[in-house]
Amino acid sequence: MIRDNRDHLFETAPTQGEISGLEVRLGDWALANPVMPASGCFGPELGALMPIAELGAVVTKTLFAGIRSGNPAHRLTESAHGMLNSVGIPSPGTEGFIRAVLPAYRGFGVPVVASLGGLTVEEYWQVTEELAVAEPLIDAYEINVSCPNLEHGGLAIGTDAATVERVVAGVAERTRLPLLVKLTPSVTSIGDIARAAEAAGAHAVTVCNSFPGMVVDPATRTTVLGNGVGGLSGPAVKPLALRLVWQAASAVTIPVIGCGGIATARDVVEFLLAGATAVQVGTATFTRPYVMVEIVRALPALCAELGVTDLAELIGGLRSTSPRGRTHA
Ligand SMILES: Cc1cc2nc3c(=O)[nH]c(=O)nc-3n(C[C@H](O)[C@H](O)[C@H](O)COP(=O)(O)O)c2cc1C
Repeated sequence: MIRDNRDHLFETAPTQGEISGLEVRLGDWALANPVMPASGCFGPELGALMPIAELGAVVTKTLFAGIRSGNPAHRLTESAHGMLNSVGIPSPGTEGFIRAVLPAYRGFGVPVVASLGGLTVEEYWQVTEELAVAEPLIDAYEINVSCPNLEHGGLAIGTDAATVERVVAGVAERTRLPLLVKLTPSVTSIGDIARAAEAAGAHAVTVCNSFPGMVVDPATRTTVLGNGVGGLSGPAVKPLALRLVWQAASAVTIPVIGCGGIATARDVVEFLLAGATAVQVGTATFTRPYVMVEIVRALPALCAELGVTDLAELIGGLRSTSPRGRTHA
């Protein structure tokens, strides 16, 4: 059992005895439990607040090969039941990541997932090649295909199945690490994109990134975000993400990692029932920094309440009277 001198900070008490039945497998890769942070919503400094060792894995912010400063302010704003960000993926570049960022993640004693970005197909391959020297410190890559494609008018790389296939196949040629591919929700058929990722060698798909949105200020007649458009995340997107997870899970044989509005153990169970094998938590950590640890600690009791002894019993266990893939009632 993990005990921590910050246990008094948590709403949930540490679990008595070993937590069992929370292990999940992403292909050959086994995680102690299914809970990990969503990219960009976690930094190593959170290690001062909570026992990160209780998480299934940690995920870095998306890394670009070059140094990037990100978008102009404001970068964050709120909307009903959600948050919008247009951070623009500032990046320390590969060299800065290896020197200053990766060691802090490695120190937590849980698997490290490095998120990869690029503005062209070749940039994804480049960052993979440059990270090769650091691969002993990395357990898996998550390829973030929501980045804008500079060669195609800025539409997200992940909106085109053939481009996703090229990106993933090229990364797979350059590494032996497990590959998660994080999909954009801005597509007509998430199943087609998930299948393209699978065909190119992905070991899992993460569904999904934030949803493009805007907030307008009537007084100034401007958009609140400096970039104009941002990504909506948080409770507002949970039903949207659940639907996408359900559709992706029915399209591929590789595991799906659910992401979008997850804030409680019950949310995790909903995503598992919809077909997810693991989950990522993002926006919820901005209001409740301890939320991921609370979720891990709450899962065994919730499983007991639901009469399951192993999370595997929940994955894809949705009983539905309507045919799969139906888009509305
Ligand atoms: C401030 C912020 C920064 C983000 N940065 C990244 C990023 O660098 N890479 C990425 O793949 N997703 C990024 N995301 C998207 C999240 O990882 C996640 O997919 C999305 O917020 C939905 O999950 P949530 O509702 O739990 O936040 C970011 C989200 C937020 C709110």
